[in-house]
Amino acid sequence: DDIFGSERKNSKGMNLNIISQSAPFLTAIKQFSTTQWQAGPLVNGNTLTGEQHTVHSPFDTRLTVGNIAFADDKAIELAMSSAQQAFPRWCNTPVTVRAASLYKLADLLESHREELIALCTREAGKSIQDGIDEVREAVDFCRYYAVQATKMMDKPELLPGPTGELNELFVQGRGMFVCISPWNFPLAIFLGQVTAALAAGNTVIAKPAEQTCLVGYRAVQLAHEAGIPTDVLQFLPGSGATVGAAITKDERIAGVCFTGSTGTAKLINRTLANREGAIIPLIAETGGQNAMIVDSTAQPEQVVNDIVDSSFTSAGQRCSALRVLYVQEDIADRVIELMKGAMEQLSIGDPSQVKTDVGPVIDASAQANLNAHIDHICQVGKLINKVELPQAALNGHFVAPTAVAIDSIKVLSQEHFGPILHVIRYKASQLNHVIDEINSTGFGLTLGVHSRNEGHAINLVNRVNVGNAYINRNQIGAVVGVQPFGGQGLSGTGAKAGGPMYLTRFVTEKTRTNNI
Ligand code: NAD
Ligand code: ALA
Repeated sequence: DDIFGSERKNSKGMNLNIISQSAPFLTAIKQFSTTQWQAGPLVNGNTLTGEQHTVHSPFDTRLTVGNIAFADDKAIELAMSSAQQAFPRWCNTPVTVRAASLYKLADLLESHREELIALCTREAGKSIQDGIDEVREAVDFCRYYAVQATKMMDKPELLPGPTGELNELFVQGRGMFVCISPWNFPLAIFLGQVTAALAAGNTVIAKPAEQTCLVGYRAVQLAHEAGIPTDVLQFLPGSGATVGAAITKDERIAGVCFTGSTGTAKLINRTLANREGAIIPLIAETGGQNAMIVDSTAQPEQVVNDIVDSSFTSAGQRCSALRVLYVQEDIADRVIELMKGAMEQLSIGDPSQVKTDVGPVIDASAQANLNAHIDHICQVGKLINKVELPQAALNGHFVAPTAVAIDSIKVLSQEHFGPILHVIRYKASQLNHVIDEINSTGFGLTLGVHSRNEGHAINLVNRVNVGNAYINRNQIGAVVGVQPFGGQGLSGTGAKAGGPMYLTRFVTEKTRTNNI
């Protein structure tokens, strides 16, 4: 049930092909096509000044989206001391009141949907469909965590005991939580972390990725408007090396919720271990080397759609995205031929156009690294297809959707976060080797399996160490409360975002035994 006693439902989507629905929606998004957003550290509700950065669109770097001021030491100290002082008040606020603010935030996100989608498109280069999904996921996180927190915290749990002894388990917030998010889900992951921490009774220092501070700023403004007190939620934009490092080494913090690369998670883990103060939790959701296994019973036509979706949606910039396709030798030629054709049909270009399937990657450095990897891997393996970029892509950070045949996953020493698919052919007799190879990467985020032999598919899922496995569909787009999301090993600590265990990582427990 939701906090008002009726069934909680995830938010509604939109079918962009129904013109009567999509036309007014697209017109509303267009109204923001020249808006210049201005943002900075939001400390106790005041927007502070600081080192100014102009935000350029990754689609066309000649276009500006606005300006962001990064937080300096003074802003960091004021935000942290205020959030720490606010903790006892917020922690003792009834969970139903906290939850009601999150419900209000969900409503505000929905009523500002067009602006938020325009911002995701212009600042992060997201397609319109990705923007729709991003807002929906953020809305769903708000309501889901509001409900979960109410269930977990509204009343203490009564425990058994001898006659005359009352045993109760209380759950409460831990303190000031640091939330650090990546640029690829600048609204959904940013707000997913923040709303979980707030629902559980923590105050929050929110640091967005430096590439997507404008989206984060608007989200925090809306959270304040929804009733989250301005001292309870503080916003500190800036780089990882400066703001990120300063807030994670602070001994006053009570926990860190991080989503980003495995390397940064390890760095934060070391910072936490070396700092003075209590031992505190790190919730880290990180990268993957995600595989799909396609056996000879699979239907090539069905498989190809899911391969292309999983590899190239969001320009491959999803932690869940398919990186390594294992296809059984018997059907490999047919699958690869169809896949090449489907890749040629991808529409690449302006993310604000509904027809666009593949937009830009986030910045010049990502573009250079991905292009260097394509050059390198084409020498190690053999190019299958590299889609030619259209003229419209030349002023932005675009990377051509590419597929390359390789012999082993072991030639990939790291995650390549973009539209690059690696393809490995295997023989039926090599299946155990395939499973060992995938497990040997140490990552464990998503797995796709295509097979019409259900027992075989389930056996594969049981043997590959991953957090999210998908049979006979694509392997992206986990839905809140439906496919709790998160990995294992190098892919993260758990608990799964959008799942029933998530909030348990944000709280402390107290058992009270009362010998009445
Ligand atoms: P990143 O690790 O470079 O940055 C993530 C965040 O960490 C940013 O806010 C950054 O400023 C901050 N940061 C960087 N150095 C820091 C430091 N020393 N101390 C504190 N904070 C620091 O990752 P990214 O490039 O923004 O995002 C892409 C990565 O995120 C990919 O590896 C992807 O797989 C992963 N990701 C994982 C999930 C998941 O749920 N598992 C979801 C989305 C993205
Ligand atoms: N939760 C995102 C997905 O499943 C990363 O694609």
